Amino acid sequence: MIITSYAIGATRSYIYIRGEFDFGAKRLEEAIKEAHAKGYLGKNILGSGFEHEMYVHRGYGAYICGEETALLESIEGYRAQPRKKPPFPALAGLYGKPTVINNVETLSCIPAIIEKGAEWFKKLGPEKSPGPKIYCVSGHVKKPGLYELPMGTTARELIYGHCGGMLHETRPLKAFIPGGVSAPMLTPQDIDTPLDFDSLAAKGSMLGSGAVIVMDNSTCMVKMAYIINRFFSHESCGKCTPCRDGTPWLTKVLRRLEHGEGRPGDVELLESLCTNIFGRTFCPLGDGAVMALRGALKHFRQEFQYHVDHKMCPVS
Ligand SMILES: Cc1cc2nc3c(=O)[nH]c(=O)nc-3n(C[C@H](O)[C@H](O)[C@H](O)COP(=O)(O)O)c2cc1C
Ligand code: SF4
Repeated sequence: MIITSYAIGATRSYIYIRGEFDFGAKRLEEAIKEAHAKGYLGKNILGSGFEHEMYVHRGYGAYICGEETALLESIEGYRAQPRKKPPFPALAGLYGKPTVINNVETLSCIPAIIEKGAEWFKKLGPEKSPGPKIYCVSGHVKKPGLYELPMGTTARELIYGHCGGMLHETRPLKAFIPGGVSAPMLTPQDIDTPLDFDSLAAKGSMLGSGAVIVMDNSTCMVKMAYIINRFFSHESCGKCTPCRDGTPWLTKVLRRLEHGEGRPGDVELLESLCTNIFGRTFCPLGDGAVMALRGALKHFRQEFQYHVDHKMCPVS
């Protein structure tokens, strides 16, 4: 961040971290103190005449605070709701100043690029999106965790290699979400897909945050969709109607399916709600809620219909 700030002439930078990540926040604060002591922060850094101060800003844990303009509102002390764009933050961002916003994962590549060179970096992973990627794997694998690998590692290598395979040998892979809960899920036939931006877009999904969720054949897709939608409706910031009212409505329908109270026409209702939310929301959170559900309906529609017809789950 200091190097980035030097490059663009920024005298202030902020690390925004969820309030719950107490350990991480304390470590960052210590690191800033150490950097000050070594003369990497403050006035006239290493005699260069460049001045820079860095702050850790702890949020309150709302998902929307990750959206770049809601994050700016949050730092400024307002309720975290996305801003209208334009103006984009690069022109008018924090306190109205030109602002660059990046994930720490992106910025953490910079020292390695400077030390080892751009050519070295470009050799890691695919041509169009080179570099390392931190895949965060959870779900039904033997060794869930964070894996830093070249961008474009395939889902097969990640799940069956690095993560040690499926948790139970007798329960095969049913589906996996490649990039956090907004990313449409993929099925075992996509197992050789490289986990990078372009390859996943070509499969109708996305890399998103790189959070890979692995599900075996004991997973009920209705329950999974219900849990994901409940999350989105809880996290909706309330600024726009399709998301504020649409995501709880989706959750309500999914809850009744899951509880054996589905009504004829509910699957069609879910599809119609998705159509009326997608592309009509102020920020991408609403689209994210819909994309996950659409992915589940695309691959497992019969499972949703079974819940309506039989008032029970075909899986459990
Ligand atoms: C609802 C929502 C939540 C987001 N949460 C995060 C987040 O937790 N971390 C993050 O880096 N970007 C998040 N983003 C994306 C940011 O808006 C922004 O695009 C990103 O931080 C840019 O950094 P990058 O180019 O280095 O990836 C979120 C976007 C949306 C719409
Ligand atoms: S889509 Fe949802 S989170 Fe985004 S502005 Fe609208 S209500 Fe808020």
